[in-house]
Amino acid sequence: MKKLMLVAASVVMAAGMVGVAHAGDVEAGKAKYATCMGCHGPTGQGQAIFPKVAGKDVDYLVDVMQKYRAGEAVGPNSMMMMPHAMNLSDQDIADLAAYMASME
Ligand code: HEC
Repeated sequence: MKKLMLVAASVVMAAGMVGVAHAGDVEAGKAKYATCMGCHGPTGQGQAIFPKVAGKDVDYLVDVMQKYRAGEAVGPNSMMMMPHAMNLSDQDIADLAAYMASME
């Protein structure tokens, strides 16, 4: 019984940690997105070599942003994107991802 409680507690804690990491604020993300517009467009539709970012899955967006921040290539033009992710905090990434996912 005691063991079961421990397992239950650690599952709740793990779920809580995931929740915090993904708790992006759409409004805060919108403000931070100002520097991204030039390439990805004001509504995230992208243009030419700049991919569309609107309406994508939050988990996917967080994942690629973390890769760019770490200097890992994602696509053929990652070198253009990496400098814009380098100085982002986990919270910035979560907020930006929430905002991008919220766009149509
Ligand atoms: C100088 C232009 C430029 C700016 C500014 C820029 N990006 Fe990018 N972004 C790119 C390019 C080019 C790619 C494609 C990179 C590749 O091939 O991996 C990209 C890719 C991405 C992707 C991956 C899209 C996908 O579907 O895989 C996301 C998400 C993204 N950018 C978000 C942002 C955010 C958020 C900002 C602002 C903090 C930003 N970008 C600023 C050029 C830019």
